[in-house]
Amino acid sequence: MFAAAQLGALAACIVLFVPMGMAGWHLSRNKMLFFSGALFITLAVGVHIAPYFPAASQFLISTLTPSFSSSPPFRPSSCLSFMHDVSFLPADAPSSFDWLPIRSRSADCGFQKLSRSDAGELLNGSWILVAGDSQARLFVLSLLRLLLARSAMEAVEGDLFRRHSDYQIMISEHGVKLDFVWSPFEANITSVLQKLRGGPRLPEVLVAGSGLWHMLHVNNASDYGENLASVRRSAASMVSPFSSELAMQPPHMFWLGLPTLLNSMLNTEEKKEKMSMTVWDAYEQEVDGSGVLRPSGGSFVLLDIGSLSRSCGLQCTTDGMHYEGVVYEAALQVMLNALLIESQQRI
Ligand SMILES: *[C@@H]1O[C@H](CO)[C@@H](O)[C@H](O)[C@H]1NC(C)=O
Ligand SMILES: *[C@@H]1O[C@H](CO)[C@@H](O)[C@H](O)[C@H]1NC(C)=O
Ligand SMILES: *[C@@H]1O[C@H](CO)[C@@H](O)[C@H](O)[C@H]1NC(C)=O
Repeated sequence: MFAAAQLGALAACIVLFVPMGMAGWHLSRNKMLFFSGALFITLAVGVHIAPYFPAASQFLISTLTPSFSSSPPFRPSSCLSFMHDVSFLPADAPSSFDWLPIRSRSADCGFQKLSRSDAGELLNGSWILVAGDSQARLFVLSLLRLLLARSAMEAVEGDLFRRHSDYQIMISEHGVKLDFVWSPFEANITSVLQKLRGGPRLPEVLVAGSGLWHMLHVNNASDYGENLASVRRSAASMVSPFSSELAMQPPHMFWLGLPTLLNSMLNTEEKKEKMSMTVWDAYEQEVDGSGVLRPSGGSFVLLDIGSLSRSCGLQCTTDGMHYEGVVYEAALQVMLNALLIESQQRI
């Protein structure tokens, strides 16, 4: 608290005098206004949260600094709804994707594939927690592929592919702590969220998603909906300020949607019977109806694996349920772009 007033005064001086100094370098008035605005925003965020949340402020500010190798354009939050306009490049083995500006507005949104260094910079100093089933594990894998060099990746793949287990890694190069918590059922995600709530630190980014296990082993959409409602409540309790003195910045939360199921390719009779299109639809509706997602008042931004996997299609799966890495890579890039947008909006 001690330095808040001094920092505020300093910030005001910087906002006032730095652009004036720049005017001396013959910058146009628009550019001056832009710099002035950017500085103000950066400083305002810094002054308000730096004393309390060193990691969070570093995380947010790193997204705003001009050192970002390809400076992110400012995009309105409406861009969030166009992020899944992705096309997969037709190839024998699809190994790449493009953002497809179907609607002219999505072109204005200027989505970009973040490189390793951009992603490292964006996520620098943050804790990323992923809780979910095999889809979530594949998502973690694509995150690691982006952040780690190929040689380091080989060592990791063995560990991460041990089925049904948790996984943890500290990527010191980027100061990123990544946790995967095996959570095949929604109740498992709820308990992860509840544990976080009592803990000393919240992750900066939280990714969760499940449903396939429930579909196969419980096969009751309304029960799935009830379980999702518990997830929603636990997430909401993390977002609302704690009773403790130091309110913690809530995580950016993302929900991994159910993949498109290609029934004829599912590898057991039981799956073919229980994981039909009708059941899938009913489960999807529970996701919308349960209120876990942002548009229905929840905390999670959807990473729409359903639509991404549908666009990639037959060529991208061998078991009708788990898709090629490129689908999760696209979902990851959607998340990173959403984080860029969100950190610009939170100001
Ligand atoms: C991450 O931040 C630390 C300081 O906070 C800095 O030394 C390091 O270079 C940054 N790394 C990347 C990849 O941006
Ligand atoms: C997940 O939840 C189920 C059902 O509540 C429980 O039986 C199982 O032990 C949990 N698994 C993990 C890994 O927490
Ligand atoms: C499905 O789940 C709901 C809610 O848990 C329960 O009330 C209902 O009896 C279940 N239906 C079947 C067929 O088990």
